Amino acid sequence: MSSLRQYVPTFAPHGPGAAAIEHLFVIVLIICAVIFAIVTGLVGYSIWKFRAPPGADPPEPPQRFGNRRLEIIWTAIPLATVGVIFGLMLGTMQASSPPAGGRPDLVVRAHQWWWEVIYPESGFETANEIHLPVGRTLTVRLESADVIHDFWVPELGRKIDMTPGHPVQIKLRADTPGVYGGTCAEFCGAEHPWMRFQVVAQPAAAYVAWLRHEAERAAPPTGAAAVAGWALFQRDTCITCHAVAGMGDAARVAPDLTHFASRRELGAGVLTNTPAHLARWLADPQAVKPGCLMPDYHLTSPEVRKLSAFLETLR
Ligand code: CUA
Repeated sequence: MSSLRQYVPTFAPHGPGAAAIEHLFVIVLIICAVIFAIVTGLVGYSIWKFRAPPGADPPEPPQRFGNRRLEIIWTAIPLATVGVIFGLMLGTMQASSPPAGGRPDLVVRAHQWWWEVIYPESGFETANEIHLPVGRTLTVRLESADVIHDFWVPELGRKIDMTPGHPVQIKLRADTPGVYGGTCAEFCGAEHPWMRFQVVAQPAAAYVAWLRHEAERAAPPTGAAAVAGWALFQRDTCITCHAVAGMGDAARVAPDLTHFASRRELGAGVLTNTPAHLARWLADPQAVKPGCLMPDYHLTSPEVRKLSAFLETLR
């Protein structure tokens, strides 16, 4: 099991929801393994025991029609087994999907193909990265801006569909600090595989510091390259889709870039967020993530350098 835990996140729960699901899965797996062993054992035994003697023409075996006691036994055992699994499942549903009413701590809105993340209390927005305080349960409201997506952090909890016009709320909690991978688990178009996000679970103090930092607005850039990049950002209409708090509000059809440079990934997981990757992305986003909403602006290398310089100031 320890090596499974290493490679299969569903076997490495770090929150009560995922732990309940893993627990039920292991129990059902054991029950199924026992049934499998009994059935294959009986089939194997029968094949061996009732085999025809070599060369002989097998006689017609005695025909039996109906055996009430056997029929009751083979109906009762599966019924009891399914009944036990049903009972355990009710408990798992309670634990993995508790009622989540009230005001959300966090709103996650799915887009083709990225995640808009809003912390309403702190009044800011970010993208593709969710932060949680370790050991505290947050109420998360899930919405979709376009098609049906599905929110899933295998190490923390259940999957849940995000249907346009039908917001839902879940509880999300991590019991160990760490970075957990999240993904869209419902086919939602060409770049569905690159609709990833990260959940960063951190101690309360670090979480509060993160909230405070994220709520800060961007400072106007200094340095010639960054200033030129900011001018390009406006001239090339990047600002129409990407908001940068304090510098420009946008239509929210693309990720908020206020603290872009401090995020870990680029393009909802398609690249790690390094200056080299950013340059590659800006040079031709359609080559990196074909079909994404960001067009290829055919930027020249000096333009890419200036835009990168500006975006790297957004810490
Ligand atoms: Cu969104 Cu798949």
